[in-house]
Amino acid sequence: ALVSTFTGPPGVGPVSLVSEAAPEVLVQRGSGWVGAALSRIDGPLKVRGMARFAAEFALDDMVYAALVFSTIAKGRIATLDTGAAEAAPGFVLVMTHRNAPRMQPMVPFGPNEKAAGNDNLPIMQDDRVRWNGQPIAVVLAETQEQADHAASLIRVTYEAEPATTSFAQAKANGTEGAVYFHHEIGDAEAELAAAAVSVDATYRTPYQNHNAIEPHAVTVAWHGDELVVHDASQSVVHNAWSLAHILGIEERQVHVTSPYVGGAFGGKFMGSHQVLAAAAARLAGRPVRLTLSREGVYRMVGGRALTEQRMAIGARRDGRFDAIIHTGTATHTRDSPHPEAFPFVSLSAYATGSLKTDLQWAFLDQVANAAMRAPGEAVGSFALESAVDEVAVALGMDPIELRIRNEPKTDPLNGAEFSSRNVVKAWRDGAERFGWAKRNPIPGAVRKGEWLVGMGCGTASHIYNRENGGAARLTLTSDGTVTVDIATHDAGMGTETAQTQIIAENLALHPDQVEFRLADSAMPGLVAGRGSSQTTTVAATVVEAKKMLVAELLTLIRADSPLAGLTAQQVGPRNAGLAKLDDPTRHETYTAILTRAKRDKVTVEASPDEPTEMNERSMHSYGAMFCEVRVNAVTGETRVSRMLGSMDCGRVINPKTAASQFRGGMIMAMGLALTEHTHYDERTGRIMNPSLAEYHIPVHLDVPEIDVIWTGIPDPHAPMGARGIGELSVTGTAAAIANAIYNATGKRIRELPITLDKLM
Ligand code: MOS
Repeated sequence: ALVSTFTGPPGVGPVSLVSEAAPEVLVQRGSGWVGAALSRIDGPLKVRGMARFAAEFALDDMVYAALVFSTIAKGRIATLDTGAAEAAPGFVLVMTHRNAPRMQPMVPFGPNEKAAGNDNLPIMQDDRVRWNGQPIAVVLAETQEQADHAASLIRVTYEAEPATTSFAQAKANGTEGAVYFHHEIGDAEAELAAAAVSVDATYRTPYQNHNAIEPHAVTVAWHGDELVVHDASQSVVHNAWSLAHILGIEERQVHVTSPYVGGAFGGKFMGSHQVLAAAAARLAGRPVRLTLSREGVYRMVGGRALTEQRMAIGARRDGRFDAIIHTGTATHTRDSPHPEAFPFVSLSAYATGSLKTDLQWAFLDQVANAAMRAPGEAVGSFALESAVDEVAVALGMDPIELRIRNEPKTDPLNGAEFSSRNVVKAWRDGAERFGWAKRNPIPGAVRKGEWLVGMGCGTASHIYNRENGGAARLTLTSDGTVTVDIATHDAGMGTETAQTQIIAENLALHPDQVEFRLADSAMPGLVAGRGSSQTTTVAATVVEAKKMLVAELLTLIRADSPLAGLTAQQVGPRNAGLAKLDDPTRHETYTAILTRAKRDKVTVEASPDEPTEMNERSMHSYGAMFCEVRVNAVTGETRVSRMLGSMDCGRVINPKTAASQFRGGMIMAMGLALTEHTHYDERTGRIMNPSLAEYHIPVHLDVPEIDVIWTGIPDPHAPMGARGIGELSVTGTAAAIANAIYNATGKRIRELPITLDKLM
């Protein structure tokens, strides 16, 4: 078996990179590492408990933090009595607006490319309360239990002011349109009115909250004026910049690392908890560990906004769409940079004679919503793909056939060419594999004992992104190993593994000869782990670094080398070295090149050209999502019995990690469809179920075997032929489940989650 030269922390020993597939097959591939099913490089460390997460750094003299949250939605703090807390065992310090250091407000995502906050609010700088759950005190103590206890003794009274905490009130106050999402092509209302068959319905999706397996955490220490931050983050460079800006120090004085993250999903960008920890550590003169409780994540980190969507489709008898209308309202705060842009998914989905989209914001006094697992597209695709199913029912047409009939040749919004779109193939392959032909189209017709059985489907779609901030430092050493440093992230999706493969392939090395280092704000690059964009962003950077490395190595070639006299156009990486492209016998290993030149190493710093491919073409990943459900005719309980994702996402870098990404997204969509629901008290603005006991996510017993396949057709316009995959299967799948429930029961549920009360 292959054993990696990558060694974990002391005592762990060598870590095997390749656990599956015949190793000799992988070796024979040589430089063909892209596409190999490597197991995750970080996997062995994680299962042995050797991967240190943000809350696992034990620093000398460290103290523990606990937070107190406001219990009103708007107003001011009238009295704040910390006396009992200060007398509690182990108490070290309490920080409130009265003694917190003066700091700049949070900077939200926006024009500043390094900003990554979810709002623009001051952090513990005044007596104002802006949402129910806002942190109003930080207590430090010698142990976590002592901190929690002392925090529980703090007494607060408020002067409350009228707050907008109900959706109806927020709409009545007047909404504002998000200009970017307003589009009109033709007269969609007239086309809809004239259509032979039409659906015009309201779909609703609830507030949802982040529940990463690792709640947010940070361990911070000041060394003089320098701040070291062990973070759980999908944006280390952004967070270093943000902390420096907020605290009034230089960016180089802040060092953020986040090598292991237990899930991010849009919730782990820059938050106020890192700021509170840093400020409290400065006041106390001691390192601080601040871990958000599960409740704390609900109070302080926003999730999905609530949406109320009008989704209308007008079709001809032959199924062709003449009108698509996707409009409606999402909850929002005045300061949130996250639009919950549900109409987005309808812009490029289907050929249509006319199109109208619009997104209105209704403003509430609540924690700013955050990016969450395919924001906008996840909830928007529930409406769109449910409505397509409704049209199919109205036409008496197979829903896959209906989708294929409306397949656009170019982007319906602007006529742009698709970079690569093979969703029809995904549909055909998926239907075959899932046994779609066996589906009985008559709702409620299939019953096994108490269980009504149904099948449904929906299209997944997620826009392609590549970030502009790609940059890497590549160091080739004379022993033939390469190290690549880039400030990117692996929150569990397999970045480290996939990029190791991309580097190995590009440099014709074995993955054991590659070390990919990431998630350190001192490294090059400004690459947040977001928008399903990291793989392409980093891949483009690696390709650029390869070019620079080849050029650099050629300057070291001497007259006695087999490569003497060749130009960069004539050579490329091969067999752990360079070779003439059309004559591989003219080859020299990296080690030989460096040794002849008496060099220990060669370092190049690369940053690719600004990404433009997605401006020139319409670029999305796609999927044909299939689901079979059983709905209990007596209790209304829904069980998902089978799922298949048939994806079209360009080239798949690693089938194993990609399949996990797809499955993870489909499981999230199960939660979206069936269970996840933040109960928000509209009288008080308080979240009532801030715990996994009462906020239900799918658990192992809920999740069936999930099958995934893909077209594997490389995208000629994407780096390494790969488009994004992380968020893709969160879209379309909730509709596939809802459509399966309709097929099983004849009940069309347009409001998520589809709990049993809605099916009784
Ligand atoms: Mo994502 S929801 O862009 O982390």
